[in-house]
Amino acid sequence: MCSLSNKRIIVGVTGGIAAYKSAEIVRRLQDRGADVRVVMTPGAEEFIRPLTMQALSGYPVHSGLLDEKAEAGMGHIELARWADLLLIAPATADFMATMVHGKADSLLAAIYLATPALVAVAPAMNQGMWRHPASLDNVEKLSQRGVTIIGPDSGIQACGDTGPGRMEQPDTIIEQASGMFSTGLLQGKKVVITAGPTREALDPVRYISNHSSGKMGYALATAAADAGADVILISGPVNLLVPDRCQHISVVSANDMLVASLECAKTADIFIATAAVADYRAVSISENKIKSDDKVLTINFEKNPDIIRTVAAAHKSAFMVGFAAESTDVENYAKGKLKTKALDAIIANDISRSDIGFNSDDNEVSWIDADSSITFSKRSKAQLSRDLIAQIAGKYNDQH
Ligand code: PMT
Repeated sequence: MCSLSNKRIIVGVTGGIAAYKSAEIVRRLQDRGADVRVVMTPGAEEFIRPLTMQALSGYPVHSGLLDEKAEAGMGHIELARWADLLLIAPATADFMATMVHGKADSLLAAIYLATPALVAVAPAMNQGMWRHPASLDNVEKLSQRGVTIIGPDSGIQACGDTGPGRMEQPDTIIEQASGMFSTGLLQGKKVVITAGPTREALDPVRYISNHSSGKMGYALATAAADAGADVILISGPVNLLVPDRCQHISVVSANDMLVASLECAKTADIFIATAAVADYRAVSISENKIKSDDKVLTINFEKNPDIIRTVAAAHKSAFMVGFAAESTDVENYAKGKLKTKALDAIIANDISRSDIGFNSDDNEVSWIDADSSITFSKRSKAQLSRDLIAQIAGKYNDQH
């Protein structure tokens, strides 16, 4: 089963008797490491109190589309963008019809329309309602649009009827929802990813570095592991938890990163360099703390090795993907790096914007290779990573 650690999940609750089981779903998702928010329709609040869901999730429950206070916090579009998965359980016949018709008459319906996340529904209704051609037609349409349908289960229903329409058991829902993250696109492939900044020491106290948080590289490592790859994450100093199922090598300087990269790339199928490697290091590191008496301090720097270029030259069989962090003429400079570093693809990242790139949760990039250029519009780094891993897997498989 795929890991749910660090996955952001919105549990959408609509108005059916099975709503009481949503509380258990929230708890179990959290037990599996997911970060959960709850959105309830007005109908759901007739069956289970928002306070219960708030106490369980640890966050205020979102329900009103026109709630000024909620919109001032995480507004509905932000919430839609935040999620990796929208799991609607229970999903009533009425709510699925709303989804099919693209209506945005509740907060949950608006989030469904706006979200780039994976979507799953666990239908729950009377067996007659489930069997009605209109319901079956709606389920079919949702499925064709990429919504995962979990269940329903069959058996005795709350109304006394027997038949299909009961919401699936929480365990089954969670198992199937977590399986949605597992694409198998890179099953058995070895993927090496560099992430975070490097630090170049000046003396025992000081160093030069940059603003890389590691978020992009760590999200890519998670997405690659979800795709079935054996992942080695070579990381400079960051404050992030190592993603499940990834081998982690901690490094500090560009030289350390080069040594680890050359070693790990020997058997790599794919090498992805998100790391913001310091381009220069001090010619000599002072043994003692540099005194601060002088008005002007001069330190001589020398060029660090180009890690991805060295790896590309040494291991020609690996599919090499670089990132280009640029603040002007982004695509042109990225194309230059694609050539000079002899890469298979480069991902151009405009780092002049504060809402994407360094240290933000979102990113927007352009994929550039010898015969294509694709823009991936702004989305969460988690979502972007899934899309980029699908892109990389497609290109890798074309070549092999
Ligand atoms: O870590 P986050 O806060 O999430 O931010 C993500 C990011 C902005 C760091 C990331 O998306 C990104 O753009 N990474 C590339 C950073 C960078 O150093 O770009 P560059 O244009 O200087 O380098 C081009 C490529 O060469 C990169 O793949 C880089 O890893 C590699 N490189 C650079 C210098 C060097 N000495 N060795 C290298 O391998």
